[in-house]
Amino acid sequence: MVDLSVKIGDLTFQNPIQPASGAFSWEYNEVIDLNRLGALVAKTICREPRLGNPTPRMAETEAGIIQSIGLPGKGIDYFLENIVPEYARFEPPLVVSVSSESIDDFAALARELSVPDVDVIECNISCPTRNTTGGNFALQEEHTKEVMSAIREATDKPVWAKLSPNAGDIVSIAMAAEEAGADALVIANTFLSLKIRTDNFRPALGNKFGGMVSPALKPIVLRMVYQVAKEVKIPVIGVGGVTNAEDVVEYMLAGAHSVGIGYAGFRNPTALTTIIDDLEAWCDERGVEKVTDLIGAVKDDDMEMDPLVAASHGV
Ligand SMILES: Cc1cc2nc3c(=O)[nH]c(=O)nc-3n(C[C@H](O)[C@H](O)[C@H](O)COP(=O)(O)O)c2cc1C
Repeated sequence: MVDLSVKIGDLTFQNPIQPASGAFSWEYNEVIDLNRLGALVAKTICREPRLGNPTPRMAETEAGIIQSIGLPGKGIDYFLENIVPEYARFEPPLVVSVSSESIDDFAALARELSVPDVDVIECNISCPTRNTTGGNFALQEEHTKEVMSAIREATDKPVWAKLSPNAGDIVSIAMAAEEAGADALVIANTFLSLKIRTDNFRPALGNKFGGMVSPALKPIVLRMVYQVAKEVKIPVIGVGGVTNAEDVVEYMLAGAHSVGIGYAGFRNPTALTTIIDDLEAWCDERGVEKVTDLIGAVKDDDMEMDPLVAASHGV
């Protein structure tokens, strides 16, 4: 039977399947066995309690949803006291996700989250509805470097940087995060988007703009993972449009060490464990002994091309 375990930094994950932040909670344990997951990933937490954005916070589109939830939560003190213990009952490593609008506070939060039950600090530096100096640092190299360096200095825990698909050149941002000391890169957050109602001419979301999630975005995020994985030495976690085991295989072939799953878990809460079972079967049927053999194994040596040149060729 295939060995599904993967290493990211010094941590070993029993398989490469983990939930995506904000699209999951420990309460999923009522539906699936959380101990089967590669990791547990908590919703992004901020310092103060937040109500979140004005409603409506979600709207359907022809191919997926746009949402602007606005990081509601009860603040870091409540999180450490009440939510970390909920996750700590389970075996997989706990990844906590954190966000702030200021660099100093971001670093301070990372320090405060560095408690024994927390295994990884995922830095949500890419909240799509914030600006480049106020939480969406990952749109620019300099801001990425500044915030990730400050966080790196504040904690000895592994820090993962969650990047934005809305950056002009995600490869440069990824390299900035690596240089600043990130241990892994999570690619990516949601795509900034807009829906306008034709009955009243108003934006469909209370916050006007939202982040789009859709399986249709997978090829775009896959391209980003591929480009970044070629340029950095640290592991990449692919997040975007995974709905089945072959999507996981594709991300790994492109260079990802593991994948995060959000949308598919909304459609069907058992998707995460089904995908683990299917990935195992996929590997066994093909005689893949270690899932890590898939990482970066895309066969394209004979077709190297500068991706920017490729993009300028158009279709
Ligand atoms: C309702 C909802 C809430 C989300 N909240 C967060 C969040 O709190 N922090 C974060 O980093 N990403 C958040 N995301 C983005 C997801 O983690 C993920 O990057 C995105 O949904 C793409 O993955 P998917 O196609 O598998 O859904 C959220 C996504 C959705 C749909």
